[in-house]
Amino acid sequence: MCLPLAARIARVELSAMRSTSPAPMPAVRRDDALAGEAAAGGPAKRDFVRAVFEQIAPSYDLLNHLLSLNVDRRWRRLAIAALGWRRAPAGTYLDLCAGTLDVSATLARAPGFGGRVIAAHFAEAMLRAGRTKVHPQATFPVLADVLALPLAAGTVAGAIVAFGARNLADLDAGLREVRRVLAPGARFVILEFTTPRSAVVRALYHLYFHRVLPLVGGAISGHRSAYRYLPQSVAHFPAEEELAARMRSAGFTSVSARSLTCGIAAIHVGTRTP
Ligand SMILES: C[S@@+](CC[C@H](N)C(=O)[O-])C[C@H]1O[C@@H](n2cnc3c(N)ncnc32)[C@H](O)[C@@H]1O
Repeated sequence: MCLPLAARIARVELSAMRSTSPAPMPAVRRDDALAGEAAAGGPAKRDFVRAVFEQIAPSYDLLNHLLSLNVDRRWRRLAIAALGWRRAPAGTYLDLCAGTLDVSATLARAPGFGGRVIAAHFAEAMLRAGRTKVHPQATFPVLADVLALPLAAGTVAGAIVAFGARNLADLDAGLREVRRVLAPGARFVILEFTTPRSAVVRALYHLYFHRVLPLVGGAISGHRSAYRYLPQSVAHFPAEEELAARMRSAGFTSVSARSLTCGIAAIHVGTRTP
């Protein structure tokens, strides 16, 4: 399969992989202090995040849909619609921090979509866990760090990241890297959790995110600190206005945000400046 726009792309051959042998990873301390440190950013974050997602990959989908009561599926569909792919249905799109390929699969299957999706992710076990969801002709899983994409500049018709932006070790570097690979006028969509503005919703949200989620997530995945990291990473993620400002300084215009489900998530959209 030829990928002319990829400068030095290394497609992950998911079909050839065995499903039960995750890549060996360095041991990660499973304590809550490390989760807090990583959520705050800095040099430890990349290794922590990568190792955690390698480890929780087998239970990721189940917990995602269970803990969000399936609302996450609707959010992803809305985020994909915000990408505006119908303007260029045969284009090449990027699913960043693609994980278990839910966004890639939904986009590639959308009626009228005739392009391809490059699914970039740095934890192989996550890509492998999603391998049965995608058609190999339309989706190209690539083991890659979003901060250093193996793609030529200005070649991608649109990019989307679902619940991955807050996991980047350097958000601003990530925004600049996405801008680099997008074609002029292409859209970048960020779907991410946010802290609700309403005091009542915020109280319920805190109870759920800080108490229920680590308990259930920890019990099912066997990795409690991963589900302690989640609410802490949301707390460190910039609010709408700040994220919009950072998107603008990275080179995006027409930046907008749409709040979802009482403000617990939001879709942010920016257009790459010409
Ligand atoms: C919460 S998951 C989201 C997965 C998927 N997008 C979804 O909608 O379910 C975030 C993923 O981002 C990945 N990630 C974080 N930083 C990354 C980076 N710099 N490059 C590639 N993947 C990254 C993590 O390994 C993790 O699996």
